[in-house]
Amino acid sequence: MKSSEENLKSQRLVSASVAAEPEADGHSELSAEKSLRPSFLEEYVGQTKAKENLSLFMEAARQRGDALDHVLLAGPPGLGKTTLANIVAHEMGSQIHSVTGPNVEKKGDLAAILSNLQPRDVLFIDEIHRLQKTIEEVLYGAMEDFKLDLIIGQGPAARTLRIDLPKFTLVGATTRTGLLSSPLRDRFGVQLRLDFYPVAELEKIVRRSASLLGIRIEESGANEIAKRSRGTPRIANRLLKRVRDFAQVRGKNASGVLVDRETARAALALFEVDERGLDPMDRRLLATIVEKFDGGPVGIETLSSALGEERDTLEDVYEPYLIQEGFLQRTPRGRAATRTAYEHLGLSCEGKNIPQDCV
Ligand SMILES: Nc1ncnc2c1ncn2[C@@H]1O[C@H](COP(=O)(O)OP(=O)(O)OP(=O)(O)O)[C@@H](O)[C@H]1O
Ligand SMILES: [Mg+2]
Repeated sequence: MKSSEENLKSQRLVSASVAAEPEADGHSELSAEKSLRPSFLEEYVGQTKAKENLSLFMEAARQRGDALDHVLLAGPPGLGKTTLANIVAHEMGSQIHSVTGPNVEKKGDLAAILSNLQPRDVLFIDEIHRLQKTIEEVLYGAMEDFKLDLIIGQGPAARTLRIDLPKFTLVGATTRTGLLSSPLRDRFGVQLRLDFYPVAELEKIVRRSASLLGIRIEESGANEIAKRSRGTPRIANRLLKRVRDFAQVRGKNASGVLVDRETARAALALFEVDERGLDPMDRRLLATIVEKFDGGPVGIETLSSALGEERDTLEDVYEPYLIQEGFLQRTPRGRAATRTAYEHLGLSCEGKNIPQDCV
């Protein structure tokens, strides 16, 4: 069962989470993503720092004929963590075995996966912060000494069995580094943080995806989509496909389907994704703070009941981007709308108690 939060996230066009329901062509977004995933570091756009680091460490490991040290990838959803994990395996010429933290239910599940690894293989654990404590503890020895201690039997007859594991690379991905226990975090030799992408890089991603999908797009069209993608490649790819649908049905270009600025603008206006990538719910959140609470600060519980949304949903789904883009501030006394929020809503902030000066 999906939580109501997950349902909600997957319904939004600007959600950074991967949508679960099939698209018009019958394929899920997840399978569509696989076809758009770059396989080499060279094709992976942006994240220069993370790429430079990885490329250096991979080269060194390859020269030694050794496995790459364990890698922790942290960053918000949709920025390319799974993609990077696959690239690591590909570039190291090894196999990737993927699991998701909450899906590893028993120690035995993990033991089975670990004992099936070949030297230099990649074990990718997505959402590693959601691994059970007891399972996390099995990982410690595996990561550090490449040994697995198993307890066979029960009661007085129980004995431990130590299994040697091949040298492998654990790649862990997490959207919330804060939730990772420090013994686990400390066992990663390479820790990389992915950041939101600037518009120019998203534009490159949109053009790359368009060419893979056979969509004709002008630079201006790619720019328009990039600007509204919340710094997130997953959203950029999704908006591209929806704009393509619009162009196909409503486009007026005589020479076939073409995504230019005008088409992208018209499509995104229809889908109610504005120039900054905000959707109706984002705008409702800001408007509520401004109109009902005089710009804030307003406590998260009060805001949550005014909007009829759960507190967790507000905190995990809506707030991060609004805060990152400076529309919203989290203060000790609650949430406050900023000058940027007033301007975006086309309102004057004069006489309001806002975090910056009203000019
Ligand atoms: N740097 C990049 N260059 C090109 N495409 C990218 C890049 N990063 C991500 N993408 C595209 O964005 C999509 C989502 O990326 P990915 O699944 O790796 O994100 P993620 O960080 O694992 O998300 P989640 O936290 O939800 O698991 C991929 O299909 C890929 O095509
Ligand atoms: Mg992922």
